[in-house]
Parts: sequence; C-alpha cells; structure tokens
Amino acid sequence: MFARIAPRYDFLNHLLSLNVDRYWRRKSVTLAAAQPDAQILDVCCGTGDLAIEFAHRLGPNGRVTGTDFVAPMLELFRAKVAGTALEHKLNISQADTLALPFADESFNLTSVAFGIRNVADLERGLREMRRVLYPGGKAVILEFNDTHHPVFGPLFKLYFSKILPRLGALISRDSRAYTYLPDSVGKFPPRPAFLKLMEQSGFSNCHVHSMTFGVVSCFIGTKP
Ligand SMILES: C[S@@+](CC[C@H](N)C(=O)[O-])C[C@H]1O[C@@H](n2cnc3c(N)ncnc32)[C@H](O)[C@@H]1O
Repeated sequence: MFARIAPRYDFLNHLLSLNVDRYWRRKSVTLAAAQPDAQILDVCCGTGDLAIEFAHRLGPNGRVTGTDFVAPMLELFRAKVAGTALEHKLNISQADTLALPFADESFNLTSVAFGIRNVADLERGLREMRRVLYPGGKAVILEFNDTHHPVFGPLFKLYFSKILPRLGALISRDSRAYTYLPDSVGKFPPRPAFLKLMEQSGFSNCHVHSMTFGVVSCFIGTKP
C-alpha cells in the first residue's frame, strides 16, 4: 500500500493535515531534546520528514539513520536530501522494524512518526526500538490517537472518517489507503494502554505529550 501511494504521500500529508503535520514533527524533535552529536535511528521513516527535522538540529558529528521496508518511500527520501548540506548527516537503508539490522546499544535515540501503528506486532517493534538503544537512550513515538475533546473530538471524527478517505482516494487514486488510515487509528491503543505497553516492552519513565486537542500524541520512554 505504501509503495502505491508513495509519489503522493508527502503532498497528501501536508494537504490533509493543513500542514499541521510539520508542526507535529518539529514539536516531537524539540521534546526529544537530542544532544548535538546524537546517533539517532528513525524507523518506518517513509519519505524522511522526521529524520530530516532531526538532522537539521544536530551538530556536525550527529547522525540520523532512517529505515523503512518500502523501497519507493526511501527513494523519495534520498531524492529529497540529495546534494543538500544534510546529506552527510543521514544514512538511509531498507529494514524491517521488527528485525532491525543493528547491534544492541547502537543509538542514543530511536524515533518513529505515524509508523508504529502500522507495524504488525506493536510490542516486538517497541522491543526492537529499545534493544538498539544505549542504556539511558530515549524512544520518541509520534502517533495519531482517538480524541475525546468535547468540541473537536466529534468534528475530528467526522473529518477523519468521512472527508479524509474521500479526498485521499481522489488524489492518491487508491481507494483503500485512506480508509486504512482511520481504521488503523481506531485500532491503536488509547494513551494509557500504549504507555503500559511501552513499560511492558522495557521502557521506564514513560510519558506522553498531547498535541492539537489530543489528535496526536508524542510518547517518550527511556531505556533503563
Ligand atoms: C504513515 S507512514 C509514516 C512515514 C514517516 N515516518 C512520516 O512521518 O511521514 C508509515 C511507514 O511505515 C512503514 N512501515 C510499516 N511497517 C513497517 C515495518 N515493519 N518495517 C519498516 N517499515 C514499516 C511503511 O512502509 C511507511 O513508510
């Protein structure tokens, strides 16, 4: 599915979120508070927008590795940064989040934006993100959540389940992808359950920062 929608993925992200997705990624990078020389792994990186945001904030010795298992998404990521000053701070490689090809304790921070929901085995994905962290390293997870805001909640549900799938289908020419989005968000655990799952997966000091009336959450946990 992601291979099919890749060419229109960025355009649709910005259009369907009215560009607020840029703010969500920027805010998550601020919350992550990575050191300038951090070694960061961004899994399910897609076309690389979160990895790029991290790379902008790192010093000359910081590096971001972006991994995804869909080659057309990674091609778009490569094309975006080719020839720019960020290129030397980024490694881009094809990998499954459920079996990351990195040794234990290789990174200071692992991140994922709008990707963990898609990983077939949530706990295994989280455990992989933890495994490759140094002790004291952080995982930063940005994801949609069902919002129960009294005013914005019903409006958001209407937009997400009725308007977004139609607009998405029209522009991406893929009738399933943008029906999958609200379906998969509906199946994603509520905030307290996801925080519990992070703890079960070996993270401590797990907490969540809610954005845009609870539509999006940034979860942060530390590897003890
Ligand atoms: C909604 S996109 C998010 C992309 C990007 N992080 C962003 O913020 O726009 C989800 C991505 O997760 C990837 N993905 C899903 N399951 C994966 C897995 N098990 N291993 C690697 N990538 C995966 C998909 O290929 C897709 O590119």
